[in-house]
Amino acid sequence: MGATIHLNAITHRYKAGAPTVLEDIDDQIKSGERVVLIGRSGCGKSTLLHMIAGLLMPAEGCVKIAGRQVVRPSAKWNMMFQKPSLYPWMNVRDNVALGLRFAGAGKAEIRERVAGLLDLVGLADQAGANVQSLSGGQQQRVALARSLATRPDVLLLDEPFSALDAFTRASLQQEVAGICGDLGITLVTVTHDIDEAILMADRVLIMGRNPGRIEARLTVDLPWPRDPGSVDFQQRRRALMEQFQQTDQFQQTGDGSRTERPPSSAQDRDGAPWRRVSNG
Ligand SMILES: Nc1ncnc2c1ncn2[C@@H]1O[C@H](COP(=O)(O)OP(=O)(O)OP(=O)(O)O)[C@@H](O)[C@H]1O
Ligand SMILES: [Mg+2]
Repeated sequence: MGATIHLNAITHRYKAGAPTVLEDIDDQIKSGERVVLIGRSGCGKSTLLHMIAGLLMPAEGCVKIAGRQVVRPSAKWNMMFQKPSLYPWMNVRDNVALGLRFAGAGKAEIRERVAGLLDLVGLADQAGANVQSLSGGQQQRVALARSLATRPDVLLLDEPFSALDAFTRASLQQEVAGICGDLGITLVTVTHDIDEAILMADRVLIMGRNPGRIEARLTVDLPWPRDPGSVDFQQRRRALMEQFQQTDQFQQTGDGSRTERPPSSAQDRDGAPWRRVSNG
């Protein structure tokens, strides 16, 4: 499992003559890599994620997964949204099985696969429960199991934990990054949350807005699972925050001509352990 994702010279306007939402987005996400897209509201994160999912075609440029241009959604690249959107009249097991049923899997295969997935997300004892009786975190776990059921190469998350309490959020962030690591799934997560980025990313793409561009790329060279209490974690967190603020400051004080680049990275100034990568 896992697949490379190429973002090739993507520029987008929702309509001819409308403002440019994304400009010159170029990146190469490796198979099995966990990437976080971070940026302020409106910078185009969801727009870019929808393009990777095949839900929206870029006006210019293209997305390629495993070398093939993405032109429609596929069970091989699954998206999880902020709300789990489960079917309330079905129990946990049937919600998880849905994608497999659509794909025409046999009964025995579905039973076995669903049981394994419910084990993986810690819901084996809730298989027969109605999803409406579950907590928000448990519902997101069902959605995760459903997304994993078709054995996707790519999992795309659009702020899927933002409605959850802090404890549930932290454990799900770790679990999802761990599961994708174990299964080799390429993971792209959209967030505003600096901690979520350091918890879940091998690499963070920092986006600026008006138009949305990738302003910086930072590699998070920490072992898995991440330990938010560690000095190293806090150091990366601080460095990401600084880099984010620099990008923001540049945008607010710039004259809009965008001929300058943001100031030097956190690493250049205080020796923070970031490695700027020239991918893309
Ligand atoms: N369907 C649409 N039609 C026209 N404009 C849109 C559409 N969807 C998004 N936009 C515009 O594109 C820009 C980027 O929106 P997008 O939803 O991708 O941002 P975002 O970074 O995901 O923001 P947030 O963090 O608030 O979710 C915004 O200016 C938004 O108004
Ligand atoms: Mg969004």
